[in-house]
Amino acid sequence: MIKNEKENLMEKIVALAKRRGFIFPGSEIYGGLAGTWDYGPAGSLLKKNIKDLWWKEMAQFRDDIVGMDAAIMMNPKAWEASGHVESFSDPLIECKLCHRRFRVDKEEEEIKEHEESHDGKTVEWTEPKKFNLLVKTYLGVVEGEQTEIYLRGEITNGVQVNFKNVVNSTRVKIPFGIAQIGKAFRNEITPGNFTFRSREFEQMEIQFYIKPDETEGKKWFEYWKQNRMDWYLSLGMKEENLRFRDHADDERAHYAQAATDIEYNSPWGWQEFMGVHHRGNWDLSRHQEFSGQDMSYYDSETGEKYIPWDIETSAGVDRSLLFILIDAYREDEERTYLKLNPRLAPYKMAVFPLLANKPELVELARTIYGDLKNKYMVAWDDRGNIGKRYYAQDEIGTPWCVTVDFDSLEDKQVTVRDRDTMKQERIAIGELEKYVEEKLK
Ligand code: GAP
Repeated sequence: MIKNEKENLMEKIVALAKRRGFIFPGSEIYGGLAGTWDYGPAGSLLKKNIKDLWWKEMAQFRDDIVGMDAAIMMNPKAWEASGHVESFSDPLIECKLCHRRFRVDKEEEEIKEHEESHDGKTVEWTEPKKFNLLVKTYLGVVEGEQTEIYLRGEITNGVQVNFKNVVNSTRVKIPFGIAQIGKAFRNEITPGNFTFRSREFEQMEIQFYIKPDETEGKKWFEYWKQNRMDWYLSLGMKEENLRFRDHADDERAHYAQAATDIEYNSPWGWQEFMGVHHRGNWDLSRHQEFSGQDMSYYDSETGEKYIPWDIETSAGVDRSLLFILIDAYREDEERTYLKLNPRLAPYKMAVFPLLANKPELVELARTIYGDLKNKYMVAWDDRGNIGKRYYAQDEIGTPWCVTVDFDSLEDKQVTVRDRDTMKQERIAIGELEKYVEEKLK
């Protein structure tokens, strides 16, 4: 795709996301707040489906992973221990003409474009400065007596400080993982590319604790890389749009001894989708040092006592949603549609009465809609003509549309139209639930 086409594609996706209730700019009626986004009816469902599938795969199907949900606000000492107060920073440079700031490590192209935007004037830049990404806030009721705290910059820390609580309250044995999904906040210097880099976002993470051993470390690091790649492929993402990229020594986060990203071939180039990090014993040993509490693990079978290593998989929910949307976007002469995996689609079905002014059709359609809703998210639409309703559901990615017509009153069948093939077939009303169930398998 050439550059204009790619920009065009992003504009179309942003417009569709707003038009169909996926994503709205945060606080839009007040002019917005940079780096924040609100998820509408379709977007919040898609997001929930991504998280639910992830949670099922990790915390429900596997015996070696348990889940937890830690507080966003933590004792600030936890952030000193984890190294974020000292090292969670991006290098930024500032244009001396207009004071706009850029990330010197990641925004080469933007910096070039900015230099050209000053109409031939020579742009001078400040020396790179480290800029801490932790978002600060205050806790307490009396002004002046409030404690400065941080909103969590990554969700990891709440899991690490609870390592012993989880070991002592469950039957887990190393190797085992702790799954968590939750919000994180970063004072990003340049939020942008729609939701790609936001200041408030959600993460889905596994901290997988293993024996501190080189062979084990390599084995599990490779295992989780492939496991995560396979998951995105199982959601129907195009293989040619995904690849691994190992981090160079000088770009790894302060906690990681090895790191690999899964990258996505986005309209603005290959970009980080999610990361697998070998955190070694960084977190647990630092929390042991700063809290004075023993964070080691006792293996009752071998009699060994050690601080485990941690292999982490960390994915942005918002970034997953964005790349899933881009990957699913289809356009031809006739229509635009989202070829979302049905398991991810916000609505599994939409139900329409052929004509909204025929009470007998509306009544039967309402009954079918009510029955299906007991099991799935289902959309209802009785506005405009059938063509327009198909058009709207295609853009939301609804896999099957069910129309109740006059024949339905007699033969107790409905027309089911498939989003991808646009083929229509007659299905008995009593078979609809089974029909969807089969397709979702
Ligand atoms: N616990 C490790 C960690 O947070 P990270 O590479 O900083 O590692 C992991 O972030 C993932 O979180 C990224 O790969 C991305 O999917 C998502 N993410 C990070 N910063 C983000 C931001 N500003 N906006 C949206 N998603 C972000």
